[in-house]
Amino acid sequence: MSILVTGGAGYIGSHTVVELLNIGEEIIIIDNFSNSKPSTLESIKEIAKKEIRFYEGDYTNKETLEKIFEENKDITAVINFAGYKSVGESVQKPLEYYTNNISGALILLKTMQKYNIKKFIFSSSATVYGEPERIPLTEECKTGGTTNPYGTTKLYIEQILKDLYKSDNSWDIAILRYFNPVGAHESGKIGEEPQGIPNNLMPYIVRVAGGQLEQLSIFGNDYNTKDGTGVRDYIHVVDLAKGHLKALEKLNKEKSGLYIYNLGTGTGYSVLEMVKAFEKATGQKVPYKIAPRREGDIATCYSNPEKAQRELNWKAEKTLEEMCKDSWNYWKF
Ligand code: WQD
Repeated sequence: MSILVTGGAGYIGSHTVVELLNIGEEIIIIDNFSNSKPSTLESIKEIAKKEIRFYEGDYTNKETLEKIFEENKDITAVINFAGYKSVGESVQKPLEYYTNNISGALILLKTMQKYNIKKFIFSSSATVYGEPERIPLTEECKTGGTTNPYGTTKLYIEQILKDLYKSDNSWDIAILRYFNPVGAHESGKIGEEPQGIPNNLMPYIVRVAGGQLEQLSIFGNDYNTKDGTGVRDYIHVVDLAKGHLKALEKLNKEKSGLYIYNLGTGTGYSVLEMVKAFEKATGQKVPYKIAPRREGDIATCYSNPEKAQRELNWKAEKTLEEMCKDSWNYWKF
């Protein structure tokens, strides 16, 4: 038996592949390195001390996917991490985002259908909730009102999966809504490495701490939050990766169904709290200035992760200190 992981050389994908290898799963990765690098594959093998099967290619290419399914008759499940994921970039390039993320998912699902492989885990996002109906967010909260094409692609793919399951309930689908992934594997060999100037908070903080960037701009301190800065549910990427293993376990046990889970810690931290926690955990200074609010930002977003705890027996375990230390440990190398 093997698992096909699209985007398996990426940030969340690589950490999930390591955890899957650690429990003895056979892994096939397809990645086009549009937002990852080939050396990550070597790092994965070094950490897990296991081999992986790899195809360099684009998951939107039907022929490439069919070749993989033809050459790997032992595939039993697919985890789809591949997709563009920059909120800001998606506003500038909506057609690229809709084409890559939605067409990619459609071609992947149609190929799975052709080969009668119906276990599917989808990398979704808390952005599907748009402006939160209530905090903390549960899976029953309304979705929609997404404020950027990236979030809208996640919303549309969730709808495609719901319609697919309704048409054929032999599918076995888990939709995992990530909150804010941060941190890196304790080895420091894999981690988050966005190209160019980071949009996300933690990659920006580590570059300021490392001297690559001058100071952090805190986007607004006049929100209705504990200290006026934005509050988010930061979750260690290894906890997130382990959530995928539990989702796979659920799919293997249930044989069919459509399941939706928030993967978060249930705790919200403000930007100022993140800066202070990072400085305390690493001993590095993070100079900052207060800047205007960022277009599309919401004040507060954090999860109620009880459903995943109840149904998957999964709970985020790593502390904020570990998130900060592991982020810095990866970057300072
Ligand atoms: C967090 C907080 C900012 C940068 C996005 C996507 C989500 C997921 C994670 C992919 C906010 C503040 C940030 C900076 C700042 N992406 N901030 N200065 O916007 O919550 O979520 O990334 O899966 O889908 O929507 O994350 O890290 O960009 O921002 O003050 O330089 O940090 O205003 O309050 P966000 P973020």
